[in-house]
Amino acid sequence: MKRSDKPTIQVTQSFLPKFSVYQKYLQKIWNNHYLTNNGPLVLELEKKLAHFFHVPYCIFVSNGTIAIQLAIRALDLKGEIITTPFTYVATANAIIWEHCTPVFVDIEPNTCTIDVTKIEHAITKKTCAILAVHVYGFPCDVAAIQKIAKKHNLKVIYDAAHAFGAMYKKKSLVSYGDIATVSFHATKLFHTGEGGAIITKNAKLAEKIKLYRTFGHVYDEYKTYGINAKNSEFHAAMGLSILPSMPTILKRLKKISSWYDKELKNTGLTIPHADKNTTPNHAYYPVIFKTEQQLKKTRAVLQKNKIFPRRYFYPSLNTLQFLHPNSCPESESIALRVLCLPFYQALQKETVRRITAYIRSAL
Ligand SMILES: Cc1ncc(COP(=O)(O)O)c(C=O)c1O
Repeated sequence: MKRSDKPTIQVTQSFLPKFSVYQKYLQKIWNNHYLTNNGPLVLELEKKLAHFFHVPYCIFVSNGTIAIQLAIRALDLKGEIITTPFTYVATANAIIWEHCTPVFVDIEPNTCTIDVTKIEHAITKKTCAILAVHVYGFPCDVAAIQKIAKKHNLKVIYDAAHAFGAMYKKKSLVSYGDIATVSFHATKLFHTGEGGAIITKNAKLAEKIKLYRTFGHVYDEYKTYGINAKNSEFHAAMGLSILPSMPTILKRLKKISSWYDKELKNTGLTIPHADKNTTPNHAYYPVIFKTEQQLKKTRAVLQKNKIFPRRYFYPSLNTLQFLHPNSCPESESIALRVLCLPFYQALQKETVRRITAYIRSAL
């Protein structure tokens, strides 16, 4: 095949349900003329997601960033929030947008999650919470974080944007913490086009979040200030159409991950893995190079062949001037050397072979 004939391969490709399935939900919208304002499809999706996660409350919102913002608001956080620099910028943005200060604590290199041995050094009188990220769907050390939080009377939020379908110690990963937030953005394993959710076990918090989500009022009862964080029936319809396929998608991703594992053996690349108590969701396929030069050279070879991996997460957030820079050497080093390879359920074995052959040739 000539290079120009080769299809472009992006880092991800959104799963789309059968059009007829989505259409059935659209028909319901057309029948009842209910387009938004927490309509029947939003309620149905919330109920089904709560069941899927085995949690009492799952609140559907317009995206994963506002989910973090509402979590911060609902817990009434003020002051410093300890967090990780190895994440998408949305995590830190949400903290700042809510007038709190992110305090970056370095990561541990095996799972790229916050290094729990370094959290206590970062605690000051102003610390109010720990906002940790289950990055790539790899669980943070939730037991250690809970212990530290209890000792210092801190709240715990997990940005579980990547954690859909991952299990930790036989429980859904999103069930840990005072609140967990997820993203249902189109690039995520489970998506609603745009969207997100807030998960909590606390009934009072759930009520507060629901109120904040809809301007702070229920019909004529104006109880507090709020924001518009609702999502529409069209987005819920997408989620409802995809949810039944999730077990199949998760199985498929596990298989694709095993193809990559096999093809990349003995290449010298480091493949980070989740803790052994995890049933991973295989949301991403990150590989860590020995040097940034090696990464750039490999990426150039792939790009030349119309394959577009992504530097995810880069740069380490503690190096951004507007985000209270400090030193996090482990995160800085990995951020320079990590590349997420194309990874999505429609990826074929032949394509994985082709991608990995280019990587081996570049190395
Ligand atoms: C770790 C992390 N947190 C938060 C978000 C924000 O989610 P959204 O794009 O739905 O606002 C993302 C999304 O890319 C993410 O990767």
